[in-house]
Amino acid sequence: MSHRPAPTDIDIHPLIAGRWSSRAYAADKPVAHEDVVALLEAARWAPSAYNVQPWRFVVFEKSADSAAFERAFATLVPFNQSWNANAQVLFAVLADTLTAKGTANPTAAYDAGAAAMALLLQAHAKDLAAHSMSGFDANAFREAFAIPERFTPIAMISVAHHGDAKGLPEALAEREQAPRARLPMGDLAHFGAWTQAG
Ligand SMILES: Cc1cc2nc3c(=O)[nH]c(=O)nc-3n(C[C@H](O)[C@H](O)[C@H](O)COP(=O)(O)O)c2cc1C
Repeated sequence: MSHRPAPTDIDIHPLIAGRWSSRAYAADKPVAHEDVVALLEAARWAPSAYNVQPWRFVVFEKSADSAAFERAFATLVPFNQSWNANAQVLFAVLADTLTAKGTANPTAAYDAGAAAMALLLQAHAKDLAAHSMSGFDANAFREAFAIPERFTPIAMISVAHHGDAKGLPEALAEREQAPRARLPMGDLAHFGAWTQAG
């Protein structure tokens, strides 16, 4: 199922409602390098505090450098490895934790998240499946790719063409079709005053 739009209470832009985190990836269908660069271009135009742009990406294209791809893949936790066999691209999302002055950047992760979301939306606009993962070993990734201390690996994003959920283990295939759920609006939005008990 490549389309699984959010059942929103109020109409929102179809690009936002339509983006979702599939695990059903097409086998042996590389993602064009131009598309990979387009996803990075979308990330590049994300907003950031003081326009510092603290996001960084290490990109692994299976079709271009399968050895590097495998080294990045090996840092995923076993669960994520289990459904990513057909992933074509892995983006490691990193945040530069320091400003140009060498002080801590308190919004580095926030800004990197905004860039990641832009990447995910651009992927959806291209009808590509893209899935964020915090389930990876950041220290192992840092070591494997000699990432300097100031950059924090935050997440991995796998990308592929949409595939058939029937190829997934039963439990994961079911999750592909389960209703998409979110907290009720009242739990997350407080108008004019904080209204939630601790
Ligand atoms: C920072 C982050 C980390 C995530 N880590 C994982 C992960 O390690 N493995 C996984 O299968 N999904 C992971 N997800 C996907 C979430 O489970 C998914 O976004 C959430 O269930 C909402 O579903 P949706 O993206 O289809 O709306 C992650 C998502 C985010 C944003």
